[in-house]
Amino acid sequence: MAFTYFFRDMDALRAIERHAIPQLKGRRYINVWDAGCAMGPEPYSLAIIFRENMGPFLFRNLKIYASDIDSSRRFGDIIAQGMYPYESVKRIPADLLARYFTPVEDTPKHFRIDPELMRVVCYQRHDLLSLKPIRSGFGLIVCKNVLLHLKPKERIDVLQMFHDALAADGFLAVEQTQKLPREVAALFERVAPDAQLFQKVQG
Ligand SMILES: C[S@@+](CC[C@H](N)C(=O)[O-])C[C@H]1O[C@@H](n2cnc3c(N)ncnc32)[C@H](O)[C@@H]1O
Repeated sequence: MAFTYFFRDMDALRAIERHAIPQLKGRRYINVWDAGCAMGPEPYSLAIIFRENMGPFLFRNLKIYASDIDSSRRFGDIIAQGMYPYESVKRIPADLLARYFTPVEDTPKHFRIDPELMRVVCYQRHDLLSLKPIRSGFGLIVCKNVLLHLKPKERIDVLQMFHDALAADGFLAVEQTQKLPREVAALFERVAPDAQLFQKVQG
């Protein structure tokens, strides 16, 4: 089972909050792609950050497309259930945990996420190496702790695909350890000094 947990990369979430959300929230539709989302803590963490920065009305314009190759074929059910163990949620700041989760009565040390957040996350199985994006016009693509598993040429091709799938001025967030390969570096401009958050440059 893939390794993941809520609020895994605070610097990236803060950078998205600071740089991406203020630009995105004025749009009629806000489409986000979480590519390699595993069992859901990452797309739901994004949903929390967006909800914290938007009223309920604007929040309805948000759609988070969460995808994964999912060799276990279990991620869809887990994400649809929205129930996570304490181990997975324990790094969420206490006020946000209280606001967006409810302890599950008949399952000790498990928490269920707010249905308002569940409504904006939709999941599908998808292999990034197909090099076919699940749709286009994304305001934000998040792909974290996935690229490191790919071969150098695959990484370049996937990043090129992300560029094509982003709307003008769309944002891309990748894991802290990933430097963009030279071949695609000119396609993106870094927007945050403390996180790997980039904005699309028209190619
Ligand atoms: C370590 S997890 C990262 C999960 C989440 N992004 C995070 O940072 O917490 C890596 C995920 O990448 C997925 N993955 C690996 N290769 C993939 C591919 N070719 N297409 C889509 N997902 C892939 C795995 O199934 C796994 O769920």
